[in-house]
Amino acid sequence: MTTNAQGTGKRAVKAVIPAAGLATRFLPATKAVPKELLPVVDRPVLQYIVEEAAAAGITDVLLVTGRGKTSMVDHFDRRPDVEQRLEEKGDQVRLAAVRRTSELADIYTVRQGEPLGLGHAVGTAASHVGNEPFAVLLGDEFVDEDEPLLPAMLDLQQQTGGIVLALLEVKPEETSRYGIASVEETDTTDTVKITGLVEKPSPQEAPSNLALIGRYVLPGSVFEAIADTKPGSGGEIQLTDAMATLLNQGVPVHGIVYRGHRYDTGMPLGYLQTVVELAVKRADLGEEFRAWLTEFVGGRKG
Ligand code: UTP
Repeated sequence: MTTNAQGTGKRAVKAVIPAAGLATRFLPATKAVPKELLPVVDRPVLQYIVEEAAAAGITDVLLVTGRGKTSMVDHFDRRPDVEQRLEEKGDQVRLAAVRRTSELADIYTVRQGEPLGLGHAVGTAASHVGNEPFAVLLGDEFVDEDEPLLPAMLDLQQQTGGIVLALLEVKPEETSRYGIASVEETDTTDTVKITGLVEKPSPQEAPSNLALIGRYVLPGSVFEAIADTKPGSGGEIQLTDAMATLLNQGVPVHGIVYRGHRYDTGMPLGYLQTVVELAVKRADLGEEFRAWLTEFVGGRKG
């Protein structure tokens, strides 16, 4: 299969995970511990995200890190000392779990010297990614493994060569927390053609209730657009602005409306909900945890 200037034809195999933000909504927990490493039961958030990418066929993951965040990379490294101890104990289940983290994908890192915005963070991936399509997965949210989103996005980007975004239907009063897409009516309910992007509009100004969530599949040409993007909302270099430039240049932009379950761990409430929801689903401890939770919610003191 040949590849044209926009990259049509090649399915993305690289992913960029921007994880260099300050995580102010989760302070003081995130003063020394990256929010991407907060545990959800017994795996850090970031592992769920890399697993989501790997399950979609991504083989190369670039973590955008910053000061105090190098432990994120250690999580995906081998731990021969720990592995040896588990082998001696005959704990095959934990041994497999520990080894698995280093086998999910090839992990690379790049530093974002200062958190100047999501667009800037993605821009630091330019030389690693080159002129190829690639996925961006934000480091504090993931979707249910039984209801994947990324495979359909990667397939659609391969067909169009353009930008593919993930959309979530939100309540009208929530539009001011998200980037919102204007869309053209199409004959399918789940894939839409996007005609415009607005950052955090009020409910009155919002062109729809379709919000951008933290999954993007982008052509390599986005790097040039990022380099030309001036600081926008909040003084940050916004990815939305760079994507809007490509849209205006005629690059096709589509959205896939996600109807599955999304976990947002970027702030305490969403994080707590994620931990509880995934804990009750676990085969090993779900039954016991659910029984305790039911009793607790039923009014047990203490
Ligand atoms: P957020 O908007 O959640 O920002 O960024 P944040 O700094 O992590 O958290 P708050 O809002 O202060 O609580 C979305 C994703 O983009 C990354 C973040 O690490 C997060 O995964 N990001 C954001 C960067 O890598 N660099 C930036 O300059 C900004």
